[in-house]
Amino acid sequence: MQVNREESVKKVVVLGTGGTIAGRAQSVTDEIGYTAGVVPVADLLAGLSLPAGLVAEHEQVAQTDSKDMTLAIWQRLGQRVAHHLARPEVAGMVITHGTDTLEETAWFLHQVLAPTKPVVLTCAMRPATALMPDGPQNLNDALRVAADGRIGGVVVVCAGRLHAAQDVTKVHTWRLDAFGSGDAGPLGVIEAGELRLFRQSVPGRADPGLWARVQGVRALPRVELVFSHADAQGHLVRSLLAAPGGDIPPLRGLVVAGTGNGTVHTALAEALEEAQAQGVVVWRGTRCALGRPVTSGRSGGDWPLAEPSVIKARLSLALALL
Ligand code: SIN
Repeated sequence: MQVNREESVKKVVVLGTGGTIAGRAQSVTDEIGYTAGVVPVADLLAGLSLPAGLVAEHEQVAQTDSKDMTLAIWQRLGQRVAHHLARPEVAGMVITHGTDTLEETAWFLHQVLAPTKPVVLTCAMRPATALMPDGPQNLNDALRVAADGRIGGVVVVCAGRLHAAQDVTKVHTWRLDAFGSGDAGPLGVIEAGELRLFRQSVPGRADPGLWARVQGVRALPRVELVFSHADAQGHLVRSLLAAPGGDIPPLRGLVVAGTGNGTVHTALAEALEEAQAQGVVVWRGTRCALGRPVTSGRSGGDWPLAEPSVIKARLSLALALL
């Protein structure tokens, strides 16, 4: 039988953005005092041996510690993802990224591009120079998931587990298995390079004009995150409402991380009502690690629910206000 070589090759494009996976330390035993976002993505790939039929291209989009993620990097990343996904010969993409804001970048891409081909973010908890780095295994797994053909959309691979963009959260400061998917659980696991899929991710539904609007701005509408807690006051919200000076844009939205089932301290709720009366959009979520508010607020208004997490909802609200 004749084999069509063109069809049997799967091409995956790997975009580097930095993070600990690209981190470099002075010594192989130093897993803390390293600089993130130094090692080029080409070098991360150079050490891997890809299975026959899998071809990887690479491109350095950014080289940053993800705590310093910016809209400008997201815009450039979105452009490169959209460009490569439109190439018929590209089966999927991998993005190397820091763990600290990985869930926000995954959510951003899920919201604005809602791709049908796989876009697999991956990362590491140990720098590339560590004695036993976790990055090569994660990158190897991510490449295989991107070429697998059974999943689509924005997903995350870390420590042998596959997470959906809407569920994934960084849950640990130190463990190699630093991500969780809450009550939903992971989409699957990667065992010896093989994806064992438990369920499909829910595809994104991008507002058709959203990506164009995101590309056309220098800043997203200003949305701040505030927490309710014991002895909370309204001062922080009132100072956020005060007319900002200089280049600071006016406040457009607030996401409140409520206690438990999304409840908000009465003193804070009063200030949030004042903000709403001044045209600020308020959303209410929970500061609990698991679960979501399941009743309308016992304390403080019928604000829309901030889902799937208050961190992701802050971004969703900013995008909704564009
Ligand atoms: C980062 O988020 O860029 C640094 C931390 C990490 O990747 O684990």
